[in-house]
Amino acid sequence: MRFHHIGVATSNINHTAKKFNLFGYEIVSEEIFDPIQNVYIAFMEKDGSPRVELVAPVNENSPILNTINKNGKIPYHFCYEVDNIVEEVNKLKKLKFILISKIVPAVAFENRHVCFLYNKDAGLIELLKDR
Ligand code: NI
Repeated sequence: MRFHHIGVATSNINHTAKKFNLFGYEIVSEEIFDPIQNVYIAFMEKDGSPRVELVAPVNENSPILNTINKNGKIPYHFCYEVDNIVEEVNKLKKLKFILISKIVPAVAFENRHVCFLYNKDAGLIELLKDR
């Protein structure tokens, strides 16, 4: 498993991006609409620092709103790249991680497959299929 990004929930990508600019982060992608997760996504990077994914709701049906309403605008998942997503999911399930989304293609990652798992001691993690 290789670290890929930290997902940050926000209600406004521009507002949050401006704050990350203060820490030396720059936007490195266009704003991407993901119709499956019903979110807007933008990536920010800074040399020597972990990649940040800003995730914002599209409308009141966006699942990310639950996170924002419950916990505020916060870092809420770590994403790891994996060679074999199905194998990793099965391994993590045996370690009491719960698969909370299907394995689906993600536009933000050239339609590479992603899924989310939750564990009460580790929080939310995302798996991203390697190229
Ligand atoms: Ni992510």
